[in-house]
Amino acid sequence: MKKRLIAAAAAAICVLCGCAGASEAKKTGEEPEFVLTYAENQPEDYPTTQGAYRFAQLVEERTDGKIKIQVKAGGELGVEQSIVEQLQFGGVDFSRVSLSSLADRIPRLNVLQMPYLYNSSGHMWKVLEGEIGDEFLNAFEGSNMIALSWYDAGARNFYSSERPIRRLEDMKGLKIRIQDSAMMKQMVELLGAEPVPLEYNEVYSAFQTGRIDAAENNWPSYESMNHYEVAEYFTVDEHTRVPEVQLISQVTWEKLSPEYRQIIQECARESARYERRLWQERSERSEEKVRQAGCTVIELSPEEMKRFREAVTPVYNEFCKENVDMIDRIVAAGRE
Ligand code: GCU
Repeated sequence: MKKRLIAAAAAAICVLCGCAGASEAKKTGEEPEFVLTYAENQPEDYPTTQGAYRFAQLVEERTDGKIKIQVKAGGELGVEQSIVEQLQFGGVDFSRVSLSSLADRIPRLNVLQMPYLYNSSGHMWKVLEGEIGDEFLNAFEGSNMIALSWYDAGARNFYSSERPIRRLEDMKGLKIRIQDSAMMKQMVELLGAEPVPLEYNEVYSAFQTGRIDAAENNWPSYESMNHYEVAEYFTVDEHTRVPEVQLISQVTWEKLSPEYRQIIQECARESARYERRLWQERSERSEEKVRQAGCTVIELSPEEMKRFREAVTPVYNEFCKENVDMIDRIVAAGRE
C-alpha cells in the first residue's frame, strides 16, 4: 500500500513538473514507457517546428505509444546555447539547433558553415545527404549529444535598419547581430562591420533600442520573428548556408533499447525530408510577405558579390586549416 502511495505521489509530481528530461513512466496498460521533451526555438508554424511535431507523431506511432515526445516551441525551454547545455547533461531530450550554436564546441563543424561555400541549395543537400553529411553527424561523438538528421535553414543574408547594403563600403561600422560563433564574428569583422553576439530572441528589441543596426538570417526568420518591421533593407547576398541539426541527448540515448534507437533515427530522417519540403514553400511565402510589406530587397551585383567573397576568404585559413581536404571534397561535389 505504502509503495503504491509513493508511486502515485511520484507520478503526480511528474505531471506537475511537466517531466523535463527522460521520465520512465510505469510500464502498465496504455502508459508510455518514456515521456521525452523536444526543445525548439522557432514559432509554432515554422517549418522546423512542424518537422518536430511530425517526428514526435511518427515516433509515437511506431512505438505503439511507448515513446511520447512533447514539443516545446518558441524557445519555451530556453535560448539555443542553454538548450545545447541542457542536452549535454540530459535536462532536455531532443532539440533542433543551428550549426552555428555548436561550432565553437565542436570546431570541425565550422567546415559546413563557411561563407560562400555552396553554390546552391542543391549543392549543400548533395553534401549533407551523402558520405560527408554522415561523417559530420558522427563528428558529435564525445559531445554528449547524438546527431540524428539535418534540417534546412536556407541561406543567410544581411538586413539593416540603417541603410541599404549595396556595396562592401555600406557594411562599414554597422553593428551587426551575430550568433555566438567565433567564425561568424571574424567574418563580420572582415566585412568592415562590428559583430554583436546576441541570442535570437533578443534581436527585435536590440533593433528597437539601437543596440544593433543590422542582423543576418534567412527569409523565414526575418519574416516570422518580425525583424522586417524594424529593419527594412534586406540584401540577398547569401553569405552562408548554415544547416540545422536534430539532436538527442546521449543521456537519453543510453536509456533506449536498440529497437527504439533505430525507430528514432528513421523518424528523424523522415521528418527532415518533410521539413525540407515545408522550408521551400515557407521561404517563398516569407519573401512575398516582406516584399508586400514594403521592405527594400537588394540584389548584390556580381562585382560586389565577388568583393564580399574575397573579403571573407581569410576565415578559411583560420577555421579550416586542418580540414582543407574536406573543403576540397565539398567544393568538388558542387562541380559534379
Ligand atoms: C535560424 C535558426 C535558429 C537560430 C537563428 C539565429 O533562425 O533556425 O535556430 O537561433 O537562426 O540566428 O540565432
